[in-house]
Formats: sequence, structure tokens, C-alpha cells
Amino acid sequence: MEIATATRNPLADVSYEDLYRRWEHGQWSSTELDFSTDSEEWQTELSDFERRAALWNYSLFFWGEDAVTDGLSPYIDAAPLEEQKYFLATQQADEARHAVFFNRFMKEVVGIGGDSVSDGLKAIEPNLNWGFREVFGRLETMCAELRRNPSIPRLAAAVTLYHVVIEATLAQTGQHFITSYLTERDLLPAFRSGMENVAADEQRHIAFGVKLLSDLRELDPEVPAAVSDLLREILPATVSVIVPPGWDERYLTVFGSTFEDIAEEGIVSILSKLRSAGMPLDELPGPPPFPVAGTPRQRAERTKRLLKAGYIGEKTGPPSAGSEDMGLLFDAVAAGLDSGAVSEPGAIQWEFRDAEPWHVIVTNGSTRAARGRADAPRLTLKTTFEDFVDVVANRADPRLMVARGRLRARGDLRWLWKSRRMFPV
Ligand SMILES: [Fe+2]
Ligand SMILES: [Fe+2]
Repeated sequence: MEIATATRNPLADVSYEDLYRRWEHGQWSSTELDFSTDSEEWQTELSDFERRAALWNYSLFFWGEDAVTDGLSPYIDAAPLEEQKYFLATQQADEARHAVFFNRFMKEVVGIGGDSVSDGLKAIEPNLNWGFREVFGRLETMCAELRRNPSIPRLAAAVTLYHVVIEATLAQTGQHFITSYLTERDLLPAFRSGMENVAADEQRHIAFGVKLLSDLRELDPEVPAAVSDLLREILPATVSVIVPPGWDERYLTVFGSTFEDIAEEGIVSILSKLRSAGMPLDELPGPPPFPVAGTPRQRAERTKRLLKAGYIGEKTGPPSAGSEDMGLLFDAVAAGLDSGAVSEPGAIQWEFRDAEPWHVIVTNGSTRAARGRADAPRLTLKTTFEDFVDVVANRADPRLMVARGRLRARGDLRWLWKSRRMFPV
């Protein structure tokens, strides 16, 4: 019996009609919630710091709900089936209701904002961090791209960003975090009940997104590559969304979760959604989008170290040149190469003016990084460690660096050209 459940297609019972029906049955009112107990508890039951931490976190939700309401129209236009368009229309109404709910909370409980939703958004804007701005900035450009080019691969990339990254990886994980501590401490009853309704809506949106992605994959063989490219681009910013202000982890631990707990839950979620869509994250074509090895917990821990060392995410200063940190970085660099695209095995040597040398031996199947110098490298790259990190973190264009003489390559340039598709940039 267990084998039968394990191999069953998780989408077998999901239909667009049924998802629509679930929407009709799942109505709730954000305008009828009574926030009076919440207002009182916000002042009396939470410490100053807890209020600040909650406001930071809830601000991301408020801004996010507004952005996803505005951003869904081109998805409706691009969806190939009427049933998909109808569901997306219900989803757009849900997202508006979520934004109204958060706006009411900010105004009536926290006491910020003004007469319009824009006033509320303006008031919370300073709370948005770098990762959040990157992810939601990408949603805006994605909507414009989808309007210009409503192709199946573009729609698949757009659904990956909206339903898989923003809803399943970020929002669902955040909602779970919030409702857990509010339930445990029996706090903010109206807000909590609204959050539970928001979470139920999101679950429906995510189920739809996974099904749509799986159906789009059947329609066009370019879909997995489009999904892979989008993830490679956006995952470093995605993990940066949960970086608390000034890396002060009390913003999370004050409510009982660590950075690693939340990141791990997000990783588990994205792995399972992509698997259900028939495109497991670690089997996508091209250079691996998430080149950090291990269990979801280890991937969360290593990702945090890469962020704190300044190797991915927001640039806040020079990167760490610590030996252990560099080892972790080069493991990710090696894992991020598409070794299937290598013409012949060979070593790439990095010579840094400001840090110890490292190399990567590229062979199909056993690519690995090592400290020091390789014998007879095929390619030697000379640069500063900081410039190299800026390329890895997608902050700088390597072609521009070559043109400016900040990155110099010597060796077998024919090999480099023939193997160029191994590089993620
Ligand atoms: Fe929402
Ligand atoms: Fe949603």
C-alpha cells in the first residue's frame, strides 16, 4: 500500500474545476474582522522589540500582497485554457482581499498609514530589505516580459517566480512561522484568523501553480530550461528575504524560530513543489540553480554561511577571505558548473591578488574544488577575490571585467569557448 501512495502522481486528484469550486466554498471577509482585541494586545502583550520584529515581518506581507494583486493580469492573458484564466481571476480577487486585510491591520492595530492603501504602503516601505526588493522587482519586470511575450516557456518562468518562489517558498513558510507563535501564545485573535484564511487561500494558489507548471511542461520542451534559468537568477535573492535587519537574528528567534529553521522549511517546500510539477530542482537542465549540497537543513546552514561571508546576496562590504569560508564558496562554484557541458576534462585555476589560490577540476561526474595550485591548468583566471565574488554573486558582468582588464584569462581559450556552457553566467 505504501509503495502505491509513494509513486502516485500528486496532481492526479487536482483539476482546475475543482480548484475553482474550492474557491467558491472558501470565501471569507477581511472587512468584517474585529481588530479591537488585537489592538489592545498589540500594546499590552508584546514587548517593544517584539512589536518591531513583527512589524518588519508583516510589512513584507503587506507589500507582497499588494504587488501580487497588481501583477497577476498578464498571467490571466497568457494562460492557454479558459479554466486556468478563471482560476487566476479568482486568485487575483483573493490577493486583493489579502492586501485589504494587511492594510486594515497596519492602520487599526499598529496605527500606521493614512486614508489610502498607498499611504499604508509608503509607511511600511522602509522595512523592505534587499532580498525582498530584488524578488518583487523581478516580479515587475517578469510581468512586463510576459505581456510582451506570452509564450509557454515565459509563462512557466513567471509561474515559477510567482507561485513556486513567492507563494510556496516565501509566503507559505512565513505564514507558518507567524501563525505558530500566535497560536502558541494565544495572541491577536482577528489577525490570526485572517492569517489562517490567507494561508488556506495560498495553499489553493500553490496547488494551481504546480498543476499549471506540470501542464505547461507537457506543452513545450523548453519549459524546464526556462524554469532553471529563472531559479538560477532569483534563488540568491530569495534566501536573502529572510535576512533580518542588520543580521540581528532576534527578529526571528524572539518568536521561536532561527534563520536555519525558516530557510530549511522554504527549501523543503520548493523541492517538493518542483518535484510535484515533474521538474525536480536538482535535475533541471543547465548549470545547477541551487549549488549547495546536503540535506535541506545542511543546505539552509551553508546558505546562511554564504550570505554572512558576503558571497551571495546584498553586498555590504568586502567578502570574507577566511579559509573555511573560501572552501565553502569553491564547493558551490564547483557544484554550480554544468560539467556535462565540458568538452574535455581540465582544471580552472584562480589566482587572486588578495587571497589564496584555488582551483576546480572539471570532469563530467566528479567536478571538485581544491585549495592551492593545479598541475597544468587548462585555464588560469587572474583577478581580485572581491571582483571574483562580485561575478559569482551576479553583481558584476565578467565580460565587462575582462574588457576593463580587471579579470585576465590565459591558457587554452579554445577549450574555454567549447566548454562555455558550463558557466552559470
Ligand atoms: Fe496572497
Ligand atoms: Fe496567493
